[in-house]
Amino acid sequence: TVGKDLTGKHILVTAGPTHEPIDPVRVIANRSSGRQGFAIAAAAAALGARVTLVAGPVALPTPPGVARIDVETADQMLAAVESALPADVAILVAAVADWKVEASPSKLKKSAGPPQLRFAPNPDILATLGTHPDRPRLLIGFAAETDNLLSNAASKRTAKNADWIVANDVSGDVMGGASNHLHLLTADGTEDLGAGSKEVLARTLLARIAQDLA
Ligand code: C5P
Repeated sequence: TVGKDLTGKHILVTAGPTHEPIDPVRVIANRSSGRQGFAIAAAAAALGARVTLVAGPVALPTPPGVARIDVETADQMLAAVESALPADVAILVAAVADWKVEASPSKLKKSAGPPQLRFAPNPDILATLGTHPDRPRLLIGFAAETDNLLSNAASKRTAKNADWIVANDVSGDVMGGASNHLHLLTADGTEDLGAGSKEVLARTLLARIAQDLA
């Protein structure tokens, strides 16, 4: 019963983790499965949008009608996102690693003992888009928190110049799981998007986006 209300719109989605190399065979990663972001890309395409999905390393099929760019690191994800601009809407769902490692060009040997890794900050893709000359009209970030969910999400919205933050309580088994409970924080307040499968919540969020753009 949903119309194709996003026809003609370009929607950019990031999803999955990033992998930050330690050496040629080892990485620092996080537990993002990419399922919520892929479901959002699928829901956007189903509403008729042109969708670019920038995906970190995940084991998921590309949703129908979605143009996918695979990346590994946060630096690569930022470059792919910028190359995909302009977009009407950007939904940054990826769990980007906060730090990268000063990687060794050759494999670290176990016999040398535990390495002293040196970390450097990664670019914040959402904050970069927040002040970008080609800033999408509707810029949406996610906040995955185990504590003080809504207040942390509200701070993130202003700190990163996002229009909306989708707040995601990850204190349960959300990471990698099939279901989720989302709240939407806008400049006007907080809306409960409900609990359900990641696919159902993706459709709810995209319907809300279509309503906003109309
Ligand atoms: O600060 P935090 O990582 O909790 O912010 C989460 C939001 O910011 C998500 O939308 C995530 O995709 C985005 N983010 C990003 N680049 C980073 C870190 C987070 O785009 N380096």
